Amino acid sequence: MSQREQWSSKIGFILAAAGSAIGLGAIWKFPYIAGQNGGGAFFLIFILFTLLLGLPLLLAEFSIGRTSGSNAVDSYRKIAPGTRWHWVGILGMITSFILLSFYSVIGGWIVVYLFKAITGQLNDLSSDQYAEVFGATISNPVTSVFVQFLFILMTIIVVAKGVQKGIELASKIMMPALFILFILLVIRAVTLDNAMDGITFLLQPDFSKVTSQTILEAMGQSFFTLSVGVSVMVTYSSYLPKTQSLPRSAISIVAMNIFIVLLAGLAIFPAVFAFDLEPGAGPVLLFNVLPTVFSQLPFGMFFFIAFLVLFLFAALTSAFSMLEIIVSVISKGEPEKRKKWSWIIGLAIFVFGIPSALSFGILGDITLFGKTIFDLADFAVSNVLLPIGALLIALFVPMKMKKTALYEELKHGSGLKRGLFETWFFLIRYVAPFLIVIVMLDVLGLF
Ligand code: ALA
Repeated sequence: MSQREQWSSKIGFILAAAGSAIGLGAIWKFPYIAGQNGGGAFFLIFILFTLLLGLPLLLAEFSIGRTSGSNAVDSYRKIAPGTRWHWVGILGMITSFILLSFYSVIGGWIVVYLFKAITGQLNDLSSDQYAEVFGATISNPVTSVFVQFLFILMTIIVVAKGVQKGIELASKIMMPALFILFILLVIRAVTLDNAMDGITFLLQPDFSKVTSQTILEAMGQSFFTLSVGVSVMVTYSSYLPKTQSLPRSAISIVAMNIFIVLLAGLAIFPAVFAFDLEPGAGPVLLFNVLPTVFSQLPFGMFFFIAFLVLFLFAALTSAFSMLEIIVSVISKGEPEKRKKWSWIIGLAIFVFGIPSALSFGILGDITLFGKTIFDLADFAVSNVLLPIGALLIALFVPMKMKKTALYEELKHGSGLKRGLFETWFFLIRYVAPFLIVIVMLDVLGLF
């Protein structure tokens, strides 16, 4: 998509931005992080961060993007010429690069499960057997790297052709279908024996489980699921016409995200307790639990395959946005360069991600600070780079953009009331920087 193009419809932008937001973060990462951090309290803190930080930051990125109409780096240059603020965009590109390197590993897991489900290799297994088959698959070095490659390949092809806008169309069908299948899954999960234990685990906060680490993870998770802090939303909103309401778009994206997080939690935890599985199982949690829940449904395998297709689509739409932000900066929107750079950067991300893919097998014993390479990449992105990016964006907006101009920008297409604008501005100017710094210092034991 070149810089001068715009989204084909209002809904197109929302779907693409929601597509960037909704992905592995809400569906795969949320259940396992919540499982490791005691459930309910984590969920509550995550929601608070999403509303107090994620939503205002999303709106901040939208305002930067639409004001400047440029890519993730030039936006900062345009608004604050002659300064170093464009490093916020460069940081976003680096973060996206690392993010996609481990994201593609999980994307590959969906591909391999899909293959196994379609070829009947998952028929009539017990929940223990699902976990065994899955464990054996992802620890196989050739398989895990190959499927990671396939996932990156699909991402490269779409970004190279610049057809993300075409994806808008597919999103119109795929996203609602994913919601519907999820609701079906939740209905099955919450009617399992002992489902109540799982519901309680997710929804009843137990604050004795909360540590500074939990709070950091919840904050990182809220940034990760909304794709904020990487300037992806700056890039996407730069293609927006002034008639679109930025606040309404941000609110609907946040609402959809929270809804899908809730559905993922309600699909997974009742089943975890019903089948006596381990909520703290880590990154494999979703993949171990899902086939078991589907196997409890009539035509379970059929629904499981449909779910995996939609899940893959959700992961890919997020992956496109991560690659897009890097490619759009480097290729400056020129079609010839776009193709070349999509391949170069995509393949570089693949190579960089190979050690993450091998972390569940032959490189599993290599750890740093007690984390595998995969965990370290995820930690660096979610809990260090995204919060720093978010902090810088929260500082940039009040420092470098005029308040009256911001109000005008946000009022276009929305008629935003002054009081709401002031609330948002307060959250961005004071609450966001303060909270992010406190949470980060606290985890370092400096506070
Ligand atoms: N926001 C993207 C996701 O949650 C990265 O998958």
